[in-house]
Amino acid sequence: MIDALGACPGAPDPGGRPAGAHGRRHPLEPWLGSVVLPAALIMGDGVVDRMFGRTDGMFGLWFPGIGKAVMLADPGLVRDVFRAPGGVIDSAEANRVQEPVIGPQGLGRLDGQGHRRLREIMAPAIRHRVSARLRAATEELAQSVADRCPAGTPFALRPRLHAALMDAILDVTLSVDPARGHAWREPLRELFRRADSYEITVRYALRHAGGMALWPSYRRAKEACDRLIYDEISRRRREGEGDDLLGVLMRARDEHGARLTDQVLRDQVMSMIAGARTTTATGLAWAFERVVRHPGALRRLSAESDEGTSDVYATAVAYEALRVRPPVAFFGRVVRLPFELGGRVLEPGTTIIVHLRSLHHDPGLYPDPAAFRPERWLGRRPGGYGWMPFGGGSHTCLGDRLAVMQMKAFLRVFTRSLELSPAEPADEQIRWKAVSNTPGSDCRVIARRR
Ligand code: HEM
Repeated sequence: MIDALGACPGAPDPGGRPAGAHGRRHPLEPWLGSVVLPAALIMGDGVVDRMFGRTDGMFGLWFPGIGKAVMLADPGLVRDVFRAPGGVIDSAEANRVQEPVIGPQGLGRLDGQGHRRLREIMAPAIRHRVSARLRAATEELAQSVADRCPAGTPFALRPRLHAALMDAILDVTLSVDPARGHAWREPLRELFRRADSYEITVRYALRHAGGMALWPSYRRAKEACDRLIYDEISRRRREGEGDDLLGVLMRARDEHGARLTDQVLRDQVMSMIAGARTTTATGLAWAFERVVRHPGALRRLSAESDEGTSDVYATAVAYEALRVRPPVAFFGRVVRLPFELGGRVLEPGTTIIVHLRSLHHDPGLYPDPAAFRPERWLGRRPGGYGWMPFGGGSHTCLGDRLAVMQMKAFLRVFTRSLELSPAEPADEQIRWKAVSNTPGSDCRVIARRR
């Protein structure tokens, strides 16, 4: 779906538009940008929109613990970042903040040959093996979630999707039987509760003064998860590797022909769980939040699901939901050598943050950009530098195809089995939670059996 540059044929692309053509030029000092994120947390993402409205699709910020940063929403500027000469942009450094969970050897923290080799091993197991069997298993999972939804009373759908898709990633990665998944779910929940808290941001900013090291409850939660993974690796070394993602990794060899170490195996297992645990459920929750407020789209989706011969419209709904409400709020890169971007020279060490929702609302690429219109994607595939919910380049999301497949399966099964309507007519607000854009009321809907 997405090539090594994050682009694919047929994708909307900034084309010949000059970088920085998003809005009016109005350079802003980093201190002003620095109030934007705290303000956005309190007042909503509209603050970010106003900043982009006053600038040329890029403004400066300063964060404690991170330092200088620029935030981008212009597809032309994003293209320039992805096309920078080798060695200028570092793709792993901005993921340092994930290291307490995914570890120093987690996919997001690696670059170069070691990163490429691991992706070559993992991609066939995850990206290219979104097989008929996995599709059928996902439909079964979706059906069991749909069957357990309360009928006729409002309820929050996102937590149910979250629990189901956590089970799905534990199955794909480690073949954990959902009936016995409790042993994994509890310690993971404890770890991610801390990883998603604002406390981790403050502690991370103070990491050189011991902010992370001196956090016993976090250390205990991480050790409990590590113990589970290392025990599983030892068991498989005795009893056989298995054919899930961990099995594939255990049979693989690194670029020097050696087995992957236990630390590397652990870090990839945690990378998969961390990458998948909330993203797809949140993307799907937004897809339902949007589609139930657009009766024409809902009717068309239900008709296609009933017919059961095509998934063209479900695909378009998934792409459009990922455009208007990208579940991951932003991704980052770090400048290694002085880099000219949009007429400014960024110093080494500057973090580049791509703000996805603003990027996806470029009126030059999407007429009436705030409108939810799955029809935009009929006969057109997404990609390019104006649709990047999965990031791009060598670090593009490893779970993109799995996620889109899961979203389509849930959309199909839910609209076939249930008549859905919004619990409240007003759109749900975007709530920032860690780096996620979450529906403010967790996607409250009313479901009636069909
Ligand atoms: C709708 C669902 C998802 C969204 C929106 C999403 C989004 C992203 C984004 C924005 C990145 C950063 C890419 C970059 O820096 O260029 C990423 C990386 C990653 N994602 Fe996802 N993700 C989703 C689902 C998944 C799933 C289901 C998995 C696991 C099966 C997964 C595993 C990963 C991994 C391992 C990486 C790191 C890749 C690397 O650094 O080489 N993601 N994802």
